[in-house]
Amino acid sequence: MLSTRAQEEEEEEFFAKLRAREFSRLDRLDQVYLDYTGSGLYAESQIRSYFELLQKHVWGNPHSTNPTSLESTKQIKAIKERIRTFFDAEEYEIIFTLNATNALKLVGESYPFNDKCTFVLTADNHNSVNGIREFAKAKGAQVRYVPLNSELRVDSIEPYFDHRRGSSNLGLFAYPAQSNFSGVKHPLSWIKKAHDFGYDVLLDAAAYVPTNRLSLSDCEPDFVPISFYKIFGFPTGVGALLAKRDALKKLRRPWFSGGTIKYVSTTGMTHLLNDGADAHEDGTVNFLGILALGAGFDIIESVGIDKINKNVRELTELLLKRLQELSHSNGRPLVKIYGPKSMESRGGTVTFNLLDEDGKEIDASKVAELTTANKISVRTGCFCNPGAAEFAFNYDPVRASKCFESIPHEEFTLQQFSTCMDGKPVGAVRASLGIASNEEDIDRLILVLDQFRDAKHSKKGKDLLASEALKINRYDSV
Ligand SMILES: Cc1ncc(COP(=O)(O)O)c(C=O)c1O
Repeated sequence: MLSTRAQEEEEEEFFAKLRAREFSRLDRLDQVYLDYTGSGLYAESQIRSYFELLQKHVWGNPHSTNPTSLESTKQIKAIKERIRTFFDAEEYEIIFTLNATNALKLVGESYPFNDKCTFVLTADNHNSVNGIREFAKAKGAQVRYVPLNSELRVDSIEPYFDHRRGSSNLGLFAYPAQSNFSGVKHPLSWIKKAHDFGYDVLLDAAAYVPTNRLSLSDCEPDFVPISFYKIFGFPTGVGALLAKRDALKKLRRPWFSGGTIKYVSTTGMTHLLNDGADAHEDGTVNFLGILALGAGFDIIESVGIDKINKNVRELTELLLKRLQELSHSNGRPLVKIYGPKSMESRGGTVTFNLLDEDGKEIDASKVAELTTANKISVRTGCFCNPGAAEFAFNYDPVRASKCFESIPHEEFTLQQFSTCMDGKPVGAVRASLGIASNEEDIDRLILVLDQFRDAKHSKKGKDLLASEALKINRYDSV
C-alpha cells in the first residue's frame, strides 16, 4: 500500500508524463491554457488514430445500403453504444446534433409546452437554455426562474414548482449539473424531486461531463445535452441529446426533414416520422466527425474520468487558495471570487474579478489584456450565463431593467450599461482546469494577476489600469 504522499507523487508524475506525451504543444508554444470550460484539448494520439481511421477505410453517407454506407452506419451504431456505456445510459436514445445548443433547441422546439404548464429554470443557466423560454412563452406556458444566493447556489427549488397533487406533465425543469460561470455543482438529487412534483427534467451536462462521472441510470434525467469537444477537444461540430426513451416520446417535432421520416406524401400532405433517435437527426449527421469520437473516448478511458476529476479537484483547490492569498499592501484582497471559495460541491471553473486598493472591481478586459500578452488563455465576460452574472454582480433587477431600457438599443454598449449601473462590473475573468492542467499553469496566472497589486500607487500599475486600448466592449462573449 502506497502512502498518501507517495500516491500523490505517482499521480503528479502520471499527469506530467501525459502532458509531455499528449499535450506537448502547450509547453512547446509556451501556452497556459485555462479555458477548459470553453473547450477541452485534444490529445495528440487522438488525432493520429483518427487520421489512420480515415486513411484505412472508405466511409460513405450513412443513409444508404451500399457497402461504404453500411460501414459508416455500423460505426455510428458502435459509437452510440460506447456513449451509452460511458454514461451508463441503457434507457436512453442518443441523438447526434451539432453541439449542446442544438440539442437544447431540439428539446425546446418540440417540448409540449401549453398554457397549463410551467418552464422552471435556475437563474444559473447558459443562454442556450435561457432561450428555451421563448418556445415556452410562444405556446402560452409560464416561465419561472429560481434565484441564486450569495454563493451562487439555490436555497430551495420546491417553492418554484406548481403544487397540483398527483398531477403529471406540469412542465419542464432545466438546470446545469455544473455551472459554466461559478463551477457550482447543483444537486443531481433535484431530478427525482422534480419528477415527484410532476416535471420533466432537462439536465444541462455540457460543463459537467468533461471532469465528472455521470451515471444516467443513477439519476435519470429526461433530457441531457452535451458537446463532445468540451470532453476531449476534437471534433468540434458534434454534440448529442441523450433522451430517456419514454420522455422522447413526449416530444412533438415542429417539422420533418431528410433523414427523419418513414413516409412523406406531397399529394396527400401526410408524413410519418421515424422511430426513436432517427426522428430527431435532421439531414446527414456529421458522420466523419462522429467517427472521431472513438479516439476521444479512448483517451478519457485510458486516463480514467475519476482520475481526471481528482487531479482537477486538487488543482482547483490550489487555485482557490492562491487567488485568496493575493492582497494589496493595505491588506485588502486583490481578488473577489464569485461562487464557492472551497471545494464543497464545486468543479474546476473559477470566476473572479480583481479589486483595486479601494475594493473597486478592475475592468476584466484590462486583466485580459495582460493575460493575453503573457500567453494565458482565460475567458472574460459573463460566459453566456447572464443570470449567474446578475447575481454575482449583485444587480438590482429594477435598476438593471431601467438602464437597459434607457439606452437606445442601436447605441447599446456595455460601458454605458456599467456607467448607468453605478460602475458595477459587466464582466469577470474565468479560469477553468482540465486534463492537461498543472501547477505551473496556476503559478503563471498568479504571477500575472499579482501585477495588479497596489496598481493605483505604482507607475506600472497605473499604466496597466490606464491602457487606452482597453475598452469594456472587448469581452470574449457576453
Ligand atoms: C453549461 C453549458 N451549456 C451549454 C453550452 C453550449 O455549448 P455549445 O456552445 O457547445 O453548444 C455551454 C458552452 O459553454 C455550457 O457551458
